[in-house]
Amino acid sequence: HEELKSFPEGFLWGASTSAYQVEGAWNEDGKGPSVIDMAKYPEGTSDFKVASDHYHRYKEDVALFAEMGLKAYRFSVAWTRIFPQGTGEINQKGIAFYDSLINELLEHNIEPIVTIYHFDLPYALQQKGGWLNRETIDAYVNYAKTLFTYFGNKVKYWLTINEQNMMILHGSNIGVFDKNIQNQRKELFQQNHNMFVAQAKVIKMCHEMCPNAKIGPAPNISSIYPASCKPEDVLAANNFSSIRNWLYLDIPVFGRYNSVAWSYMEEKSYTPTVQDDDMEIIASGKPDFIAFNYYRTTTVTKNEYDNYLADSRDEQPLDTAESGVYTVSSNPHLEKTQFNWEIDPVGFRVTLRELNERYNLPLLVTENGLGALDRLEDGDVINDDYRIEYLRKHIEQARLAITDGVQLIGYCPWSAIDLVSTHEGFSKHYGFIYVNRDESDLKDLRRIKKKSFYWYKKTIASNGEIF
Ligand code: BG6
Repeated sequence: HEELKSFPEGFLWGASTSAYQVEGAWNEDGKGPSVIDMAKYPEGTSDFKVASDHYHRYKEDVALFAEMGLKAYRFSVAWTRIFPQGTGEINQKGIAFYDSLINELLEHNIEPIVTIYHFDLPYALQQKGGWLNRETIDAYVNYAKTLFTYFGNKVKYWLTINEQNMMILHGSNIGVFDKNIQNQRKELFQQNHNMFVAQAKVIKMCHEMCPNAKIGPAPNISSIYPASCKPEDVLAANNFSSIRNWLYLDIPVFGRYNSVAWSYMEEKSYTPTVQDDDMEIIASGKPDFIAFNYYRTTTVTKNEYDNYLADSRDEQPLDTAESGVYTVSSNPHLEKTQFNWEIDPVGFRVTLRELNERYNLPLLVTENGLGALDRLEDGDVINDDYRIEYLRKHIEQARLAITDGVQLIGYCPWSAIDLVSTHEGFSKHYGFIYVNRDESDLKDLRRIKKKSFYWYKKTIASNGEIF
């Protein structure tokens, strides 16, 4: 391209976190336990009790975000700070914390982008069946209503549910880590349906209660490649696109189940029970934009292991394989991170185009980033050139996608500051700001600006010029 379009005016250059991964203070000021707090973690891996201690240091953190030049900060509210048992009495100390965080952001001219629910379901609700129980729908709606009541006049961007598709595709791996609690696939798709109903109700309510705000879903979306041009592989990729990606966006945007995903569920006897008004409710909650998280593409083949998989079907998470439908394989053309994640900036452009063509809505990138074993060097220096490289290449591709006509409104990489990874502990660093602790030794938790901090600051200041 000779004439690259610029990032649009008011572009939301941001960065992201989630409550349980960054806050700590897991049982302070009336907070109740979430599924995350009650889960068991592999030996030697950090839990989430202290995390990055952001709950106590948020003012210092926001000042650093402002110094970096962030225009937006995407974070989540811990449901159990507002309703310790998921429902019931509001915990005013929880409201006070987020009120103060939001005020702090606004004073620094940073737009808050708030995720209502990011994996940390209240444990009290989980004990009553979690998302299998339709009372959880009401609890979520009531919780969201409370957020809109208190913060609806200050927050302009809301996200309903973070990575609903990953919660379903990973089964027990996200949320409840206890490997003994393995959801059967049929149950997973019922939970999925109940979340869709809950999400639609909340989108509709947001439009009624906060007419100046915008709201959207935040799944993990990435293009699916066939491992070869064998038509069977292409079909497998097409299957997985529907089951992994489009199912989660056709529901909110078009108000209907993706037909390939639905026929797959029928074939496997996984179809959820859909109550009388459910589809009407679903069709009534249309998002204003699509937020999505992108880390890497996925490559699939036709399933070669039918017999083997038929025996162990319910033990495989759906992001690995589904008998006769797809098997996830690897892409020999891509390099990998230290944690074995393929790196695919061009795939980011492809994903942006696909979303644009399919849904024709503004897009907001709510996660993208590189997990690495960062090293603190003498003189408080972290030379994370690999992270700069990863982000630069993705920003370049985002700009090409904008030139292609994609309506991209913001880019919020993961993560604003170091935090605990979902299941790989604290040594898997993502942040622009280093937090001085390791898996078990909390050290002094002090904040140190990484090389990528200075680089991102320059990138934002120049509205995405490439350095
Ligand atoms: C996304 C989640 O799946 O990816 C985040 O929304 C998560 O919560 C991020 O931290 C990176 O994944 P991980 O497993 O490396 O922490």
